[in-house]
Amino acid sequence: MNNYDVLVFGGSSGIGLASAIEFNKNNLSVLALSRNATASDELKTNGIAAINYNILDIEALPTLLQTTPSVKHIVLTTRFPLPWGLLKDIDICESRNYFEQLWTYLLVIKEACNSLKRLESITIISGAISKNNKAGTINVKLMASSLNEVARTLAVEIAPIRINVVAPGLVDTPLYDGIINKDQIFDEFKASVPLHRVGQADEIAKAIYFVASNKNMTGAIIHIDGGATL
Ligand SMILES: NC(=O)c1ccc[n+]([C@@H]2O[C@H](COP(=O)([O-])OP(=O)(O)OC[C@H]3O[C@@H](n4cnc5c(N)ncnc54)[C@H](OP(=O)(O)O)[C@@H]3O)[C@@H](O)[C@H]2O)c1
Repeated sequence: MNNYDVLVFGGSSGIGLASAIEFNKNNLSVLALSRNATASDELKTNGIAAINYNILDIEALPTLLQTTPSVKHIVLTTRFPLPWGLLKDIDICESRNYFEQLWTYLLVIKEACNSLKRLESITIISGAISKNNKAGTINVKLMASSLNEVARTLAVEIAPIRINVVAPGLVDTPLYDGIINKDQIFDEFKASVPLHRVGQADEIAKAIYFVASNKNMTGAIIHIDGGATL
């Protein structure tokens, strides 16, 4: 048995790593989970526990939850390959695979609510795209909007366990590593938002900690996006 307070799915990089560090700074014991989490030097440097865990491996979930009975907070911030594209071009099979993330999140929420007796909060990361309508975003828009509605509907159903969403705009994380036109994407985002800047992972992490720790927040969608949704 382990005495973790927080599980961060996708906790080895970007927003998840920053939120693991934020919870840890606030004296909560964190377990970061991702496919290669044990290789993260940042987690080691910050003294944060890690296990290699693929959220799609649903058979591993019961054992994980049985061995972490003290968990109070769950953060869902894994990243799946984003199938951008116009409807006329996208591969619908790829879109279906992408939506595995949604069902997997629902499964984690269901099993965690059923078995973690001390669970207080669940925080999901969606995105500003849920409020924007742009060509080529249909898959990602559907995912972000669905995640928002998961939180709003389940907030009513699973209370007193709380469930909230943090919805970032563009955030400078390893998600963009290796993307050839990264500079162009960042420049276009900066030009399009009122604050003319790209977000940082620690700014999102502070909001994640805030919604998780605020005992009167549930069903909230917090936009941290430089004004991208205005
Ligand atoms: N960055 C942005 O601009 C932005 C904007 C809006 C929303 N978001 C959303 O925020 C979330 C986090 O994004 P990020 O920018 O922090 O991405 P990131 O830096 O690429 O981190 C993604 C994390 O997910 C983990 N992961 C991927 N597949 C997994 C799987 N099957 N099982 C377990 N863990 C898995 C990765 O670790 P492993 O590779 O070790 O598995 C990594 O820890 C994503 O849902 C993303 O869509 C990001």
